[in-house]
Amino acid sequence: MRLDRYVSQAAGVSRAAVRALLRRGAVSVDGRVVKAADLQVPAGSRVELEGQPLALPGPRYFMLHKPAGVVCSTSDGEHATVLSLLAEPRRELLHPVGRLDIDTTGLVLLTDDGAWSHGITSPRRHRDKVYRATLAEPLAADAAARLAAGLLLKGEEKPTLPAQLDILSPTEARITLHEGRYHQVKRMFAALGNRVIALHREAIGAVVLDPSLAPGQYRALRADEVAALR
Ligand code: URA
Repeated sequence: MRLDRYVSQAAGVSRAAVRALLRRGAVSVDGRVVKAADLQVPAGSRVELEGQPLALPGPRYFMLHKPAGVVCSTSDGEHATVLSLLAEPRRELLHPVGRLDIDTTGLVLLTDDGAWSHGITSPRRHRDKVYRATLAEPLAADAAARLAAGLLLKGEEKPTLPAQLDILSPTEARITLHEGRYHQVKRMFAALGNRVIALHREAIGAVVLDPSLAPGQYRALRADEVAALR
């Protein structure tokens, strides 16, 4: 990592402020004053600011109960973003792991650990995702069998992987997916001639939305939850 980025992240100051610190010789690497912002800091280096050792903050992991009306992106000109719900220092370093539609509620993971989030969203990993769907019409008698067999979605050539359906009421079901395609749940029910009117994500792999979190609330993930998705 570049020295200016390292100091900015470790000390929580802007890159412009770091450049001023570098100019006046306030930063040293392994005991030598360095003024070059673009120096690549070798792993294990001792970086000091005004004689005080600096350390990069560890990676952070959160779960959020996403409310409807909020978008899963880091910036948006129109709507509130999931990041805006986090009262965390330097939250601009965090990103949501995958996306939910603006009207979908439930579990969203956020982190600054790019390798961890890639491991969850990578199509090759097939992480289970569990959703509760409320439907406009009563479920057809063959809905579970058709989802288990795999469906051809509009505009696609490859059928969906088998998905499990647990029927909770004539118009409510829990669906478990093993892949993540664009608007997948809504499109799967559309392929069955139905329509999703509310969608809520309950779990990603072994990580379940904490029932104590009201919409809009979040908490740090426990170490076992982080490890379960690694
Ligand atoms: N499938 C959808 O259709 N929407 C979501 O937000 C998530 C999965």
